Amino acid sequence: MSTEREPSTRNPRPFPYELRTFPVRPADDGGVPDEVAKWTQAVSLGFYGNVPSEGDIAKYALHEQVDGRMATGAYLSDAAAPAGAWGPEYPVATYAYHRKNLNVGGGTLLPVHQITAVTVRPSHRRRGLLRAMISSDLAQAKAAGLPLAALTASEAVIYGRFGFGVATHVCTVEVASRGGISFHNPAAAAHGTVEVADVLAVRDLHNELFARVHAATFGSIGRHDMYRLVASGQGNYGSMEPARNVRAALHYDASGAVDGYVSYRPDETATPRTVRIVDLLAAGEGAYLALWNYLGSLDLIDRVTWDMAPEVDPLEWAMAAKRDYQRKQTEDHLWLRILDVPAALAARPYAAGGRITLHVGDPLGHASGLFTIEVAHGTATVTRRPEDGSVAAELSLGVSELSSLYLGAVTARTLLAAGRIREEAPGAAARFDVLTARSVAAHSLTNF
Ligand SMILES: CC(C)(COP(=O)(O)OP(=O)(O)OC[C@H]1O[C@@H](n2cnc3c(N)ncnc32)[C@H](O)[C@@H]1OP(=O)(O)O)[C@@H](O)C(=O)NCCC(=O)NCCS
Repeated sequence: MSTEREPSTRNPRPFPYELRTFPVRPADDGGVPDEVAKWTQAVSLGFYGNVPSEGDIAKYALHEQVDGRMATGAYLSDAAAPAGAWGPEYPVATYAYHRKNLNVGGGTLLPVHQITAVTVRPSHRRRGLLRAMISSDLAQAKAAGLPLAALTASEAVIYGRFGFGVATHVCTVEVASRGGISFHNPAAAAHGTVEVADVLAVRDLHNELFARVHAATFGSIGRHDMYRLVASGQGNYGSMEPARNVRAALHYDASGAVDGYVSYRPDETATPRTVRIVDLLAAGEGAYLALWNYLGSLDLIDRVTWDMAPEVDPLEWAMAAKRDYQRKQTEDHLWLRILDVPAALAARPYAAGGRITLHVGDPLGHASGLFTIEVAHGTATVTRRPEDGSVAAELSLGVSELSSLYLGAVTARTLLAAGRIREEAPGAAARFDVLTARSVAAHSLTNF
């Protein structure tokens, strides 16, 4: 356990808090350490969840131990709490991380520091707690050699100031399915076979299938261990009570091996009659369209919805009636924060040979500097250059913008037009785009 005190760097008000970091795991006797239990209660409060039972907290701890999750709580250091209020053993702010990896393209899985469970109690907001927790955590992740940090944000305006930028988008789609989905090429949607299965099969197959999908999907970030319960309706952070309306179908390849699944549930409140996808993983060739073909075959259902669809979806182009595929919403999804510029930029693939020098600004300092990217045969050598005036930058940008460019969520020319980056040499943004172009849009299938 590490104990530290981290004053806010920008808030002149007093900071009467102590930050404590500890692993999330069950106690030796099978129960849960008190600090883990109270920390979990505070997270649940912050996200408006139900009060978790002791049993639920024990289950969360078992799964989060698998992820190596580390929790941070901010505790009132001068221990008085008004009579009847939560005592000082409950953190007033929470924060956690686990470390998995990110598919940065070209088959490379790069280690990533995944931040989650960020809450600040309403009565302690705007006193620098988030700033203290995230500044200290990012510094430790950088010191531990992590090239990237990541999160998914419930509010859009908070994390840019800490160097995070939107790195992938995700779409909510509605597919008209009454009478079945017609395909341009029916044979492409008829690979293998699809059969209904017990939903527990999804829980048991999840880790292996996700690993395959993750390795093959540019932009995919690791899933935490609770995901197999969420995917199969067996529990989530709101309730560990199994949902009884989640159903599942498996896809089998030509040899009879399972290479995909879809879990889904009816949406009782929606009209027309709707089925919502809970999770869809397609690892094998043809599995994706075959699973959609199955969803289209559900009787009494007019519409299938999915809130994790990619920005560019083969389904939309496979359907005979493209307009039956309606993209209802496109939202920012994964946010990235480059911590180590040479390591992050050298790990990803490049589209063309060439060379460009960037000046990167970072309010927290981790990614600041002048860097030359030199690309040959699709891979880059990234070198830190002296900032004594002997080397000229061609493009100046902040780490948040560089992090948004990293997986190709946006081009440098668009950020230039948006007034967010500066060309120090004419045409530098276009040259950056030629070097870094991606042939497919990044897609993450993970909420955390
Ligand atoms: C978002 C939240 C974590 C902020 O915590 P906080 O301790 O009040 O934030 P801080 O006092 O450290 O403020 C840090 C900076 O963010 C800004 N900020 C914080 N919350 C903000 C908000 N909701 N909207 C706009 N700016 C915000 C502050 O103005 C401050 O800016 P500055 O340091 O550049 O002057 C807190 O409001 C919260 O718990 N919200 C509900 C849960 C949530 O949305 N969690 C995020 C999950 S990903």
